Amino acid sequence: MKITYYGHASLGIEVNEVHILVDPFISANEKASEIDINTLKADYILLTHAHQDHILDVEAIAKRTNAMIVSNFEIASHFEAMGFEVHPMNHGGSWDFEFGNVKYVNAIHTSSFPDGSYGGQPGGFVIEGERKNIYIAGDTALTMDMKLIPMFVKLDLAILPIGDNFTMGIDDAIIASDFIQCDKIMGYHYDTFGYIEIDHEEAKRKFFDKNKDLMLLEIGENIEL
Ligand code: NI
Ligand code: MN
Repeated sequence: MKITYYGHASLGIEVNEVHILVDPFISANEKASEIDINTLKADYILLTHAHQDHILDVEAIAKRTNAMIVSNFEIASHFEAMGFEVHPMNHGGSWDFEFGNVKYVNAIHTSSFPDGSYGGQPGGFVIEGERKNIYIAGDTALTMDMKLIPMFVKLDLAILPIGDNFTMGIDDAIIASDFIQCDKIMGYHYDTFGYIEIDHEEAKRKFFDKNKDLMLLEIGENIEL
């Protein structure tokens, strides 16, 4: 499984020769100006919630690639009405896709579309593929529900928001990594705009002091599991 960071909360995942994009918000992110949404491969687009900083580039990419949009029922219905191929899910449900299994899990956040319409309840994804398990938390507070995840899966990597203000910050993300029993963390949802700027060295040191590993990828950089 290969995971590429496209800035903010945008990820690319290659698993079993399938290309997945998560929460594409790239074209309006100045920090991600070297990423061209017109060349990104996508067989599936996974969306954690309906906020603009997670769905901005969905239409453009899905139109070009015919990617299937996987999200909660309300977001899937929204894109289905626009003519896109979708797979609706809801909390606690999982599905075997061609690339592996996806479970839609709880997040504590909000989920309105940019026009204010209802975007269902926000979530995260647990993805199993190539015998690896990853957790993409989405925008979320620290929540006790995270303790449920290691009851059904042994995680190899967790991707957690660390920018604070709109989501967990560093200290809560460290507690989250205890809850999910995973010490290998990739941070996301930081530095994109002023409210969520973080001190990278301090963040890494805080994880290191708890015998945990925090990875902060450069935009465009990838890791292999
Ligand atoms: Ni959000
Ligand atoms: Mn967000």
